[in-house]
Amino acid sequence: MTNADAAGASGHPMIPRFDDLAGRVALVTGGSRGIGAATCLALARSGVRVAINGRDPDAIAASVAAVHAVGGDAIAAPADCADLAQVERMRQRIGEHWGAVDLVLAFAGGGTGRPVPLQDISEQDWRSSLDNNLTSTFFTLRTFLPDLLERGRGAILTMASAGARMASGAPAGYGAAKAGVIMLTRHLAQEVGPRGIRVNCISPSAVLTERTRAHLPPERQAQMLAGFPLGRLGTPEDIAAASLFLLSEASSWITGVVLDVAGGRIML
Ligand SMILES: NC(=O)c1ccc[n+]([C@@H]2O[C@H](COP(=O)([O-])OP(=O)(O)OC[C@H]3O[C@@H](n4cnc5c(N)ncnc54)[C@H](OP(=O)(O)O)[C@@H]3O)[C@@H](O)[C@H]2O)c1
Repeated sequence: MTNADAAGASGHPMIPRFDDLAGRVALVTGGSRGIGAATCLALARSGVRVAINGRDPDAIAASVAAVHAVGGDAIAAPADCADLAQVERMRQRIGEHWGAVDLVLAFAGGGTGRPVPLQDISEQDWRSSLDNNLTSTFFTLRTFLPDLLERGRGAILTMASAGARMASGAPAGYGAAKAGVIMLTRHLAQEVGPRGIRVNCISPSAVLTERTRAHLPPERQAQMLAGFPLGRLGTPEDIAAASLFLLSEASSWITGVVLDVAGGRIML
């Protein structure tokens, strides 16, 4: 780990550069926006070559351009991660460009679910939550794991949510899907630890991205602060900083953990 990049306004994290990551190839699903895009930038600043996934070609192109603008190396890796055939084609394209992937960040998530009473959850919204959070993570891990196993090294990060850690007002299907991501992470960590691969999970609470800002007017953000002992909501850089640590050799004796990056809102 070497000199730090200031990540913005005071109180926000410094994102160190992790030299051991330089030259590695990472896939970031959901790297086209929000938390994923900020993490792609932080990875690139550590010299990681980043394959940036999402479904919207314009958003992917913007994230690739942002990495190029800081002198990093990135390629577009479009795919709907809830579609196994698309994920397999994505692996083939990345492989043709850079060879095997060393780091997998399965960050894609979302879906159409809304926080409504259980009896009002539509089948479509339920399936959307499961498909876009849990199944997409499974397809990503299943497809890219052979790359890591072949080399006997690498690290995987999955993306949960405070909605999986407590009944917090998040859509029930989303919370259930993210809780599934946590168990999938532990299962895989147990399975591949002896083969030199670490698997951990990041679990953020309220992180201000373009999407969440659109849903949380400033008054609502101010009300929420009472639930966060550290007195602010999260930034994408908070998640990026924790992610780089969990991917680097700085965390070489950590696997199977869920790291709540949540300003103290979640203490488990
Ligand atoms: N922001 C928060 O407060 C918060 C809190 C807890 C957990 N999280 C989790 O953190 C992750 C990122 O959240 P965010 O707030 O940064 O969201 P965001 O800005 O809406 O970005 C979501 C990203 O996931 C991609 N994505 C969604 N479904 C996909 C699919 N099926 N296949 C491929 N890509 C897909 C989107 O790509 P396209 O738009 O191009 O399709 C986009 O790049 C998600 O897993 C989310 O559940 C966020």
